[in-house]
Amino acid sequence: MLNLQNIWVEYGEKVVLERVSLDITEGSFISIIGPSGAGKSSLLRVILGQEAPSRGTITLDGAPLPAECGPDRGVVFQRYSVFPHLTVLGNVLLGLEFSSSPLIARLFGSARRAAMAEAEAMLEQVGLADSRNLYPAQMSGGMQQRLAIAQALIKRPRILLLDEPFGALDPGIRGDMHALITRLWREHGLTIIMVTHDIKEAFSLGTRVLTLDKRRHDPHAPQRYGAGVVYDLELTRKQAAEPPIAPLGITIDTKVNT
Ligand SMILES: Nc1ncnc2c1ncn2[C@@H]1O[C@H](COP(=O)(O)OP(=O)(O)O)[C@@H](O)[C@H]1O
Ligand SMILES: [Mg+2]
Repeated sequence: MLNLQNIWVEYGEKVVLERVSLDITEGSFISIIGPSGAGKSSLLRVILGQEAPSRGTITLDGAPLPAECGPDRGVVFQRYSVFPHLTVLGNVLLGLEFSSSPLIARLFGSARRAAMAEAEAMLEQVGLADSRNLYPAQMSGGMQQRLAIAQALIKRPRILLLDEPFGALDPGIRGDMHALITRLWREHGLTIIMVTHDIKEAFSLGTRVLTLDKRRHDPHAPQRYGAGVVYDLELTRKQAAEPPIAPLGITIDTKVNT
C-alpha cells in the first residue's frame, strides 16, 4: 500500500534519516521505536506529507504520494492537537466541515444534521458521547487523546499516524487506550503507524516493530550520518495479540529483516 524508497531527510548539513526503504502492507499496525532525536517524528511528517524528503520517493497504491496532507492520512500527536476554544462535539465537527467544504468550513441544513449524526457516532466509538459539550480544559489527558483520535478518524483516513499518543498519560489509563486503538484499528480496517518510546507497547500493539537508529557514527561530525531502520520485526497475529512478558523473548520466533 505505502512504499518508501531510499528516503533521506536532511536539514542543511544535518542528516536525520538516510536510506529508509519500507513496504507497508494495508491493515498492518507498525510500531516505531528508537532513541530520542533519531528522526521518528520526521519520518511521520514525511509520510503525512507535511514535509518533503530531501531524497527518495514515496508511493501510495503505486502513485506518488500527494504533496500535501490529504484526508487519506490522519494524525494524533502526544498532546495539544485539539482546539481549546471548541467543545468536544465542535472539535469533531470541525474535522468533517474542513473535509467536506474546505473553503467555507461550515455546513447547513441536512448536511449539517448528517455531520452531527456522524460526529456523535464517532464520539460514541471513543467513549465520549456523554462529554460532547465539554471543553478540552475540562477533560483529563486520556479524554483529550480520545477526542484527538475521534477528530482524526472522522475524516475516514486509511492511514492513521500516531506520534507517542499515549506518552503523556498515566500508566493506568494507557491500558484502556490500547484496547480502544486496537478495536478502532480492526473496526475501521486502518493501517496504523505509531511512534512510541514504550517497548512493551510497541510489541503488544504492533504487527511489525521497526527500530530507527544510526547505523554508523562519526564522532567528529555527529550530524554527518542519519538514522535508518536497524531492526524490522514482523510479528505473527498470535504474538501481536498476546504480548510476551519480556519483549526480548519475542525475537526467537520472529522473522528478522535488518
Ligand atoms: N525543521 C528542522 N530543522 C532542523 N533540524 C530539525 C528539524 N526538525 C527536526 N530536526 C532535527 O532532526 C532530528 C530528529 O528529530 P525528530 O524527528 O523530532 O526525532 P524523534 O522524533 O525521533 O525524537 C533532531 O536532531 C532534530 O533536532
Ligand atoms: Mg518525536
